[in-house]
Parts: sequence; structure tokens; C-alpha cells
Amino acid sequence: MDIRKITERVSYVGVNDRVTNKFENLWPLPHGVSYNSYLVKGSEKIALIDGVEVTYIRALRTHIENNSGGQKIDYLIVNHMEPDHSGAIPLLLDIYPEMKIIGNKITIGMLQGFYNISESQCEEVKDNDVLSLGDVSLKFIMTPLVHWPETMMTYLEEDKVLFSGDAFGCFGALNGGILDTEMNTDWYFPEMYRYYSNIVGKFGRQVQMALKKTDHLDVKYLCSTHGPVWHDRISEVIDIYNRLSLYEGEEGVTIIYGTMYGNTGEIADEIANRLCERGVKNIKVHNAGKSEMSYMISDAFRYKGLIIGCPTYNGSMFPEIDAFMKAMMVREIKNRVIALFGSYTWASAACKSMNECLEKLKMSPVATLDMRQAPSADDTKEAKRIADAVADAMGF
Ligand code: FEO
Repeated sequence: MDIRKITERVSYVGVNDRVTNKFENLWPLPHGVSYNSYLVKGSEKIALIDGVEVTYIRALRTHIENNSGGQKIDYLIVNHMEPDHSGAIPLLLDIYPEMKIIGNKITIGMLQGFYNISESQCEEVKDNDVLSLGDVSLKFIMTPLVHWPETMMTYLEEDKVLFSGDAFGCFGALNGGILDTEMNTDWYFPEMYRYYSNIVGKFGRQVQMALKKTDHLDVKYLCSTHGPVWHDRISEVIDIYNRLSLYEGEEGVTIIYGTMYGNTGEIADEIANRLCERGVKNIKVHNAGKSEMSYMISDAFRYKGLIIGCPTYNGSMFPEIDAFMKAMMVREIKNRVIALFGSYTWASAACKSMNECLEKLKMSPVATLDMRQAPSADDTKEAKRIADAVADAMGF
């Protein structure tokens, strides 16, 4: 058994990165990440679909040579130009100088801009164009802004394989297996939420357009640029991307709070306890001064309820909550049941500032608590009222 073989004609030639600490130098990679690349062997031509980050060229080359039967690569299909997939292209051209790079008009401009690759080495394709490899052909489907404007998908109709670019991807290196049927994929799913919400989360509308554009395709193998190749669990993966891109929250509440000396944090715990009393089982509490941002964004995308609290700081919000609010605004999060709790010592500003952010998101809190200094007995009662308002609005 060759685990790299997805179908008779399609082989996995990607690589694992367990070295990089942060994806895009922003998002932690505790379990690594894979850069997926695929080889499609037709009766006349061979195509490589997507490349890898530049430092992994040696492994990519070895995998290609082991799977190509010694034949040269005729085409490189560039579904997406972000350098985690395009970084090795100049070195691939050194190895395969005759190789034609297939991309759309924007891709070809980016190849020039990033790597000084001339148009003469490229072939432009448009939506629904088809490239023959002999007995099989590749069809190109433009899916702009999933994740960059040049993004497209490639469909191999004969084998029912969709090469989907970043869509349906997740963080996490591949630990032996390639296909979901070969491994326990359960732990990839939290990393899918974190990947989607942080990397693709801003582009929900475009993800929906791409889902509608591809939903008629018969897909047996869903080959993303990151994470396992999906076969058995395709419908679950599509369902996650569909729900997240519609901003549909699951049953549960995320509480995200800032606190300097623990007073605002006490309110967070009172709210969480009350939510539990009301029957909410999925409750995620993050101290924003300690939790890493990508996990907070992920939970805020995942769950329907969102309760945010912080003390007043320099006439505005506690800085980590300020950053979280900006992350929510950039990603245009919506459809949340929201409540706020703020605190102040001599001049209240946190609640007002958090509310201004919600107004920009066209959402309003179902309840607000503004606490002066340390929690009083009344504040504790108010914390329960906040939890009750959220639980009521969510139908608990
Ligand atoms: Fe995996 Fe948007 O690059």
C-alpha cells in the first residue's frame, strides 16, 4: 500500500512543517502545519497542483521524483499565490525549466511581482477552462478571496477530486496518514475552526459563493492545501465551512474578559457559573491577558453566545480586549447573542468603547453591567442577570 496514492493518477507530494512557530508569523502552530501538493499523472502530461513554502523544496522534489516515475513536470497549477504554497516556484522552475505555470490573470501578475517570473512561462486560464493531460483533464473554477483575490480551485472530473486551495483546510501537520480514512481526524477539527476563523474568517461571503459554485460537483476526494485529504468526512468538513461562513454559532457561550487585579475576572466567573446553572454546557472562558488571540477568535466564531468584559484603561478598553474587538470588526462577525460587562475606578469608559465597536458590527448587547471598583453584592446579582439574558436569548 502506498499511502501517498490518493487515486491511480493522483499522488500526495506535500510536506510537513513542524518548525515554524507562527503561521503568517501571527498564528501559533502547536501541532505544525502541512503544505499540501499533489501530482496528477495523465497519459500525456503531468501536472503538479500547488507548491510548498520555499524551505521545503528539497522534500517536495524528492516526493515528486518518487511519484512521477522519472518523468518531468509539464504544468504547475497555482490555485493560490500565498507564499506558503508559491515560495518554492522559482526553485521548481530551476529543476523543471520547461514547466508551464497555469494561473489566472491575477496569479500571473503576482508571479511577476513576487518572483519576477515572466508571462512567457505562464498560461492564463479563465473560469471553467479545461486543461487536457491526455486521458484526463483539469477544470479551473475561480473562487476569488478564498483566501486571496487570485484563488481558484481545480477539479479532476475523471477521479472526482477537488483541489480546493485553502478552502476546507486546517492547521496540524500530517502524522503518517494523508487520507482521513487512515487516521483519527478528531483532533484536526478544533484546528479547522481556528484556521477558518483566523485565516479565512473575513471572507464569509466569498466562501458562500465558492460553496454554491462547487456544490453540484461530485467530489470523492477533497484535497485542500492544508491538513488531511478528506474522503469519509467530506460532508462534515463542508458543513463546518458552511456554518462558519454564515456566522452560524453552535450552542454555547464564549466569555472573553480582561482584568488587571482580578475584580473584573470575578464577574466573568459569576456569569459562567450562572450559565451552567441555566443548562449551558459549552462555556469557554478566556482571560484575554493570558489566552492567545487565535483561540479567542476561534471560540467567538464557533459559539452563538459571546460575553465580553474588561476594565477601563486609559479612557478606553483594556488593550487585549481592544485588540480582540478589532479582530471581530475586521472579520465582520455577526449573528451573536452578546452581553458586555465593564468596570472602572473613577471614570467609566470600557462599556462605552465596547458598545461603539458593537455598533460598527450592527449588533447590540442583550445586557450590560458597568461595575465601579470591586464587585459588590449588587454586581454579583447583575452578573447573574447578564447570564440569564444571554441564556434566555439563546433559548435555555
Ligand atoms: Fe495556505 Fe492562504 O495560504
